Amino acid sequence: MPEPAPILEVEDIAVSFGGIHAVAGTTFDVAPGSVTALIGPNGAGKTTAFNLITGFVKPDQGTVRFKGADITGKRPDRIAARGLVRTFQLTKVFSKMTVRDNVALAASGNPGENFSRALFQPRSSRRAEADARRRADQMLTEVGLARMADEYAGTLSGGQRKLLELARVLMNDPDLLLLDEPMAGVNPTLGRELVALLLRLRDERNLTYLFVEHNIDLVMEISEQVVVMALGEVISVGPPDHVRGDPKVIDAYLGSEVEA
Ligand SMILES: Nc1ncnc2c1ncn2[C@@H]1O[C@H](COP(=O)(O)OP(=O)(O)OP(=O)(O)O)[C@@H](O)[C@H]1O
Ligand SMILES: [Mg+2]
Repeated sequence: MPEPAPILEVEDIAVSFGGIHAVAGTTFDVAPGSVTALIGPNGAGKTTAFNLITGFVKPDQGTVRFKGADITGKRPDRIAARGLVRTFQLTKVFSKMTVRDNVALAASGNPGENFSRALFQPRSSRRAEADARRRADQMLTEVGLARMADEYAGTLSGGQRKLLELARVLMNDPDLLLLDEPMAGVNPTLGRELVALLLRLRDERNLTYLFVEHNIDLVMEISEQVVVMALGEVISVGPPDHVRGDPKVIDAYLGSEVEA
């Protein structure tokens, strides 16, 4: 049987800041419905690769294709509208707004980035606002945070903020989710729940995941494909067992500071 066409094709993308080649010619594919982990030591270029794929940084070279269409250098909100949505390494919330309104705001664009813009935009019609709140409640139910809908977002724990962020990205009805360290700052118990939730959402919503994660055991457990970056370059790609035994990967990790 022929392989299904990749949902994401990253081809030779690169960007440098000053003299630093943050991402230096990175190529990999993501299969639809799969879980792909992007790993590598601190500073390897993982977040920058996410920024390039989602339009937050324009590449110096290379191509990004999503569902077969060239999206290289397009605006983040346009890319999100096509169904490619990302979360941020540091979760931003409006602490003095309710959880529900934090989620409802995501209806007006890509979550995170356009927050302040969304806040100062002229108020849309009451009907649109009510609709956004209704959808926000649905998303909060999906992630198990419905009982917190009326609380201020500032009262949420680190793990609950992750759930809030997930509810926000679901407002965009994504096909491909890029998650930047979704488990960071989450205690192990909630981490397990978060993993179970992500896998359930994948099945229910037909999602594909590309995620950055430093917990290698978790990566090996849930990923079908692992992409390993070091110093801006992809040094190994393949199933978990392949990269685990790859001497280049072992070198990259042992040659860097040991992760906390
Ligand atoms: N906007 C920027 N301006 C200048 N340098 C940058 C910028 N963004 C990233 N860099 C540099 O690019 C390199 C890659 O950074 P990046 O944040 O992509 O790494 P990372 O793999 O996500 O690391 P971590 O695991 O610590 O999150 C680093 O040397 C970083 O300092
Ligand atoms: Mg990063």
